[in-house]
Formats: sequence, structure tokens, C-alpha cells
Amino acid sequence: KTRSIVTGTGSFLPERVLTNADLAKIVETSDEWITQRTGIEERHIAGEGEFTSHLALKAARAALESAGRTEADIDLIVLATATPDNTFPATAVAVQDMLGMHHGMAFDMQAVCSGFVYAMATADLFITAGRARRALVIGAETFSRILDWQDRTTCVLFGDGAGAVVLESSEEEDGPQGRGILGSQLRSEGQHKSKLYVDGGPGSTGTVGHLRMEGRDVFRHAVGMVSDVIDGVLSEVGLTPDDIDWFVPHQANKRIIDATARKFGWPDEKVVATIAKHGNTSAASIPLALDVACRDGRISKGDIVMLEAMGGGFTWGAVVVRW
Ligand code: ACO
Repeated sequence: KTRSIVTGTGSFLPERVLTNADLAKIVETSDEWITQRTGIEERHIAGEGEFTSHLALKAARAALESAGRTEADIDLIVLATATPDNTFPATAVAVQDMLGMHHGMAFDMQAVCSGFVYAMATADLFITAGRARRALVIGAETFSRILDWQDRTTCVLFGDGAGAVVLESSEEEDGPQGRGILGSQLRSEGQHKSKLYVDGGPGSTGTVGHLRMEGRDVFRHAVGMVSDVIDGVLSEVGLTPDDIDWFVPHQANKRIIDATARKFGWPDEKVVATIAKHGNTSAASIPLALDVACRDGRISKGDIVMLEAMGGGFTWGAVVVRW
């Protein structure tokens, strides 16, 4: 049986750093409020003319290099983003073009903050169905462009960045000890669509619009929803929480991450948390965190890694991978 194994990771953060102290000069807020409520200390902000595709390209190149591959080896690009360069074409084809690729297929995945989990699950289906051999799975966002910088309840939470992994088909990894994506669960519930949305787009104002969120409501649903899919994926693949070596959650709020980890008995040492330095980078947060934890030597070959996210829609999901 074919498995999709992760062979490389990469990430990129824009140069400009915006601290909580910087934000306190823009809106009525404080470092203390932001740190206590969210765990965020600073975030990166894309420069003028620096778009989602540019961040994605740099993360993709780094992932290819770490996998020892080039664009010639890739036949699928799935790019998770809610902040595409243009309404269409997909940002994924912009990346394909900048990589100089003239073969294969590329498309965007729109599941907001759950986008990377959706993209991993989708690329895995293409690979295990024999429709693709090697995929670049990218999460890239420039949320700074859809924030209302006068709304302190949202503008303090988000940052820009990109992360990517190379996912490859392997026939040698079958069986319980085999590497690769072991299982995934995706969910959505559209009745919550107005709790976290952008108030623009071709079907409404015709402008790009701004992110709007009922933060308290999102928070209230978050832990229960992600716990359900983590439970679901664990039982699907026959693992228990103790089998998990690394918990790499979507980085939205430190309190959500901590509460989820506590529920499954995962100590801080098993939790990869980058929220303090990255903020919430939506679909980019998981691959950014993965790249940090792979490069600093925490995640290594054979480790079992639980990825999980929840976002606008609501959408949510979990993927478990033996690295
Ligand atoms: N600085 C100072 N005060 C603030 C700020 C701010 N930046 N923002 C809000 N406040 C005030 C509010 O006005 C409110 O004042 P009031 O009591 O006088 O009305 C008070 O602080 C408390 O506000 P709450 O909204 O109740 O604060 P809460 O503890 O719920 O924290 C937060 C807010 C951080 C947004 C939290 O609800 C949260 O993290 N929610 C989940 C959001 C999330 O994870 N979104 C992303 C998930 S999906 C995705 O990633 C796209």
C-alpha cells in the first residue's frame, strides 16, 4: 500500500517585526493584555509589494532543499491560503510559475486557519490514489492585508508568514511501524460562518474587506471541536494520546493550545508552540511550527506528530503523521 511521507520542511517570515508595544501605539491595548489573553508577543508583517505568493515561494524553496528535491520532482502543489494574491488565478499557480514548473497541477485550498490540515489530507489522497508522486503542500498568508487596524479585538492577533512540506509517495512504509500520514479527519459546520469572516469579496461589497470575529464565541467552540477530531483520528489509526511524540496545533491562542494539550495529557515539552513570536498566521501556522521543530532537532524520523486546526467556517481537522 502507498503511503505519503514527509521528506522536507521549509518556512519564511517577512523581515518586519511588529511587537505588542508597537501595537499599543496604534490602538488602545497593552503588551500585558495581549500576552495574558493570547500568548502573543510579536508577529511578522509583509512589506509593501510582498504578497502571499512571495512568502510561499521562499518556504517552498526551503522545503525542496531540505528534501533534496527540485521543482522537476514535484507534480502537485496544494497551497492553503485565505489571503490569495488575486481572487483568481490560484496563488498556487503563481508559485508554480515562479518555480519555473511547466508540468503537474497546482491549486489553492480555502479552509482558512484549517487550510494546511485540509491541504495535507487532500495531497495524501492524491498520492495514495496514485494520482501524484510528490507534492509541495504550502500554507501561506498575509492576514495583515485584511485586518482592520483600528479594531483592537482582532488586529493584535494575526501575523504573516509561510511554511511548506514536501510529501512523497512511498511503497516501503506500509504496516504499523511505517512512516507517513497515518490518518486524518476533516470537519466543517457552516452554521457558524458569520462568527469569523471577511466582510468583503465579489459577492458582497466588491472590496477586499476586513476580518470580523466574535472572539469569545470562537474560543468557546475551539477546544471541544479540535478534541473531537483528535479523538477521532486517534481511534481511526489505533493510537492513544500517550503514543503522540509531538503536538503541533494551529497557533491561534496559547490558552486554546494549553487547554487542548491538558485534555490529552500532553506536557509542555511535547507541545510545539510558536505563537509568541509568530502570532496567528492562519494556514501558515502549522507548517511554520513544523519547520521550527524539525530544524531545532525536536521532531525527528519515526516520531508520531499530531497536527490540528480550527478556523473560519467553522472548519476543523486533525492529521497524524509518523515523521
Ligand atoms: N487590548 C485591550 N483590551 C482589549 C483588546 C485589546 N487588544 N481586545 C479586547 N479588549 C477588551 C474588550 O473590549 C473587553 O472589554 P470589556 O470587558 O470592557 O468589554 C475585554 O478586553 C475582554 O474581551 P473578551 O473578548 O472577553 O476577551 P477574551 O478573554 O475572550 O479574549 C480573544 C479575546 C483573545 C480574542 C479570545 O476570545 C480568543 O482568543 N478567541 C479565539 C480567537 C481565535 O482563536 N481566533 C482564531 C481561530 S480561527 C483562526 O485562526 C482564523
